[in-house]
Amino acid sequence: MSAAQLQDSPAWQRLQQLRADWGKTSIAELFAASPERGTRMVAEGCGIYLDYSKNWLREDTLAALLALAQERGLEARRAAMFAGEHINGTEDRAVLHVALRAPASAQIHDQGSNVVPEVQAVLDRMAAFCEQVHQGDWLGATSQRLRQIVNIGIGGSYLGPEMAYQALRRQRLPGIREYFVANVDGAALEAVLAELDPAQTLFIIASKTFTTLETMTNAHAARRWLVAALGEAAVERHFVAVSTNHEAVAAFGMNPEHSFGFWDWVGGRYSMDSAIGLATMLAIGPEAFREMLRGFHAMDEHFLHTPLAQNLPVLLGMIAIWYNNFWGAQSQAILPYAHDLARFPAYLQQLQMESNGKRVDLHGTTLTVDSGPIIWGEPGTDGQHSFYQLLHQGTRLVPSDFIGFVQPLSDFGAQHDLLMANLFAQSEALAFGRSAEELRALGVAETQIPHRVSPGNRPSNLLLVDALTPFSLGALVALYEHSVFTQGVIWGIDSFDQWGVELGKVLAQRVETDLQGKTKNTHDRSTQNLIERYRSQRS
Ligand code: F6P
Repeated sequence: MSAAQLQDSPAWQRLQQLRADWGKTSIAELFAASPERGTRMVAEGCGIYLDYSKNWLREDTLAALLALAQERGLEARRAAMFAGEHINGTEDRAVLHVALRAPASAQIHDQGSNVVPEVQAVLDRMAAFCEQVHQGDWLGATSQRLRQIVNIGIGGSYLGPEMAYQALRRQRLPGIREYFVANVDGAALEAVLAELDPAQTLFIIASKTFTTLETMTNAHAARRWLVAALGEAAVERHFVAVSTNHEAVAAFGMNPEHSFGFWDWVGGRYSMDSAIGLATMLAIGPEAFREMLRGFHAMDEHFLHTPLAQNLPVLLGMIAIWYNNFWGAQSQAILPYAHDLARFPAYLQQLQMESNGKRVDLHGTTLTVDSGPIIWGEPGTDGQHSFYQLLHQGTRLVPSDFIGFVQPLSDFGAQHDLLMANLFAQSEALAFGRSAEELRALGVAETQIPHRVSPGNRPSNLLLVDALTPFSLGALVALYEHSVFTQGVIWGIDSFDQWGVELGKVLAQRVETDLQGKTKNTHDRSTQNLIERYRSQRS
């Protein structure tokens, strides 16, 4: 079905009608009419409990959203992804991140060949390498243990490993510290190197293509730093690579045996459970890494087999469609009430915005509806003292996902009730607000009332998980991966390419040689002026 046909589909039209008929029905009214929606509009799977009752949803809305998913062929598309069909059309690639976490006995094919044994072989090599590093069998050039691990990579070769390193802080093995360098700004590398002893440092150069300018620039600078301290021969012991580009890895001077591969059917933003997770495995050990993969896989199975009405990724994805396409929501907030998930919103930003920030459908036809929303967020309670003012009283619609955990893992567990009280209270306050009458009853002066009213009726989902563990992290990431997939299917776009990032890369290369005075390319007057000003002021 093309982009043009989307708005003609019966379910889309039904949803438009439901939207038009919605009037001013508030979440409070929905609860007053049917209080049990608070226990009915829930779904559960893989240890994740989703309460979606505080949304602008009734049963008829949900039924129409699920009908839309069916009309758009979600189930067939999902089957095609798991079957290894080349659903990434513009790059003619399969999309098989689900194979990265499939059990060894599974059979998942790309072009007729089962990819699972290769995946397992790489995982085994990664595990063997990690054991060597942990047990001191893999030493640096001066025979010291490698305890400082630096992941040099950007985008999907950075955000997942960094997010997981923080999220799984409790599972980290003693004696290992990790650092992440992504930005091409030399300050990023400088800040990290300042903390390191070359003799104890292991660099992981993580790049699917091994051509990304930021990563290769930082990798070469790190190499020079190491060689200056320990000599050329040390490179072999102190650098390993994660890439699909084996020739480029060899050209860098690394032993191909110290390179961990993956495949073109793994998108960068879907790769934290591939060899790109080497930093994660070094931090938490192979067994905990495999436990994370089991969490991913459990959610894959849930997505594949659970009826749509109870299917967590489908529910999250279709609720997002409802706000995005029928209420004009421009953004979605991700609000984890877990300090260790601080980088989760940034991780989801790439996952959603690089996947679904598209303007044409699979056939190249321009979309006539909005595609992926802007994703942003911060952990609670920090966000409460920053941007929640806008969520409670601002003029914009920002559907939010709250994420919380039942079990405290910190040594200050007594504070956990306070954290969770904030989480539940925020979703309650957003949904139900506080009226002028309530304020009057509290004796608030009449002039203050307009300023103090919280209108409520602001929709949110709440995800409640038992504890932040490798398993639950894997399940949570896979939940959002499949939600992003679901939304992409509705819009009929290619969620697995990223052509939009290319132009900036090409222009940056032209501008760089202009800045260095090697070329004099033609630019618009503004850019030209900026280049000249920079050149004249640069000392
Ligand atoms: O520029 C975008 C991008 O291609 C992302 O999709 C990817 O995650 C990132 O760059 C890094 O790419 P690579 O792993 O090839 O260095």
